[in-house]
Amino acid sequence: MEESSKKPIAFIPTPKEIASLMVSLITKSKTDSILDPGCGKGIFIECLKEQNFTNITGVELNKELYNFCKNKLSQSIIINNDFLDLSENNKFDVIIGNPPYTHYNSLPTSMKEKVYSITKTRETDIYYAFIIKAVKLLKDEGELIFIVPYSFFYNTFAKTVREILAKNGFFELIIDLDEVNLFEGELPETIIFKFKKVKEKRDTIILKIKTRLAKPARVTEKALESLEKRRENELFSYFIKKFDYKSETWSTFPYIEVSFFNRLSELAFVGVGMVSGYDKAFRLEEKTIKLLNDEEQKRVFPFVKGENCKGYFIQGCVYYFLLDSSIKSEEELSKKYPNFYSIILSSKENMIKRYLPKNRKWFHWQALRNYETYRKRLDAPKIFVPTLDRSKINRFSLTYEKFFPSGDVITIIPYKDVDPFFLLGYLNSDFFRRYYFSYGGKRGNRVSYTQRLLSNAKIPKFSEKIRKIISSESKKIFNQKSFQDCREKIEKTILKSFEENLFDSV
Ligand SMILES: C[S@@+](CC[C@H](N)C(=O)[O-])C[C@H]1O[C@@H](n2cnc3c(N)ncnc32)[C@H](O)[C@@H]1O
Repeated sequence: MEESSKKPIAFIPTPKEIASLMVSLITKSKTDSILDPGCGKGIFIECLKEQNFTNITGVELNKELYNFCKNKLSQSIIINNDFLDLSENNKFDVIIGNPPYTHYNSLPTSMKEKVYSITKTRETDIYYAFIIKAVKLLKDEGELIFIVPYSFFYNTFAKTVREILAKNGFFELIIDLDEVNLFEGELPETIIFKFKKVKEKRDTIILKIKTRLAKPARVTEKALESLEKRRENELFSYFIKKFDYKSETWSTFPYIEVSFFNRLSELAFVGVGMVSGYDKAFRLEEKTIKLLNDEEQKRVFPFVKGENCKGYFIQGCVYYFLLDSSIKSEEELSKKYPNFYSIILSSKENMIKRYLPKNRKWFHWQALRNYETYRKRLDAPKIFVPTLDRSKINRFSLTYEKFFPSGDVITIIPYKDVDPFFLLGYLNSDFFRRYYFSYGGKRGNRVSYTQRLLSNAKIPKFSEKIRKIISSESKKIFNQKSFQDCREKIEKTILKSFEENLFDSV
């Protein structure tokens, strides 16, 4: 069956108010050529006409939707074709729309290959291909205005998209709509961006929505008001950003400049946790440990999970038994570790389904990442943080206990001459949180702590006096497990040192 006669790929209509807002961002003349790729039921074309644009082309792959537009919008050119196949000889002054969002794995086979050939990866999405194709189809000085998920700003596999945008122009405007409910049933984090295809980059205006509860009509009204008055209002914050196109991930947060710094990786070991691939199967209740034989007991360790990270301190732990490739066969397991064997047998079906590296058996842990390092430094103070966190304040949590990290936490082990309480206090500050967001750590309403972003994080070289204040306040929180006053003092101390430039410059 032809692609065009099947059901559409990701038809999700844009609310008219949002389409109209996007059309008002066009600064080209009313007779310039405009393309709406994946025009659906033609909402953008309708808005373009209402705002007196005359030279409009819509492309729609799905036959039914194409027919719908053809009948409804007779003065515009509507083409029943795959946008990704359009000849790049015929370029446009403006490309505007809401492309389909669908992960590669869910695309029809023929579309998969096209998307792959454009984005050069199979960990991709059709909207990545739409952005790349659109940049190519744009005339010099042309404007690309899309509403798309925010994830191409940080996704590793969207690197090609970022490179092509960075090479060909700049964002004149980004409206960050966070997870505002715009599309029925769908809650992606979306942005509207206006990209200009020009040689010279200029600054970017950023509007960031303050609440997820806004309705499309209010979003449009308040965004236009903020743009006109060039300042923030109840719904949007407004600022100008020197966008860093070269950075690994992009962000719509204001940059926080740190001039005198050490990377966290210079001050501490930063590592991912150990992954079993099926935690339930290896978990033990504390009371059952004493019933195990001696050999078994040697393999039981306390682990910290994300849920144990309370911010500043750790509460509780979980016990897992470690089965690694030193256990060569199921027979050895059953003889030497009979209790483990009987526990794990009940999970065999699920364990087999895990992804396992070569030479691993179904009863082994999936990846004992950094195990040797953790074993050697068990006595050292360690800071753990959940890899994905919804809480509103940071939860870097220190412990002196001999804990291992489970797969859902990142571990920071400060080097010998580094004060763990200083790091703990600084990493838990709101200042660091904002810094981390500006370097790409935000994922919707969660923060993602990755080994790479944390290792590269710039830790200011505060003067000794400042470091001591942060450290002693942090110690108080750690010991007393109470927050507010000390957190505020740390915050003020950090802000003051930036205002008064209280750093060691060497
Ligand atoms: C998210 S919907 C948006 C529809 C419309 N622009 C709107 O905003 O209401 C994406 C549209 O792209 C169309 N589409 C998907 N893949 C396409 C392709 N390769 N070429 C052209 N249109 C495509 C879908 O049929 C769907 O109508």
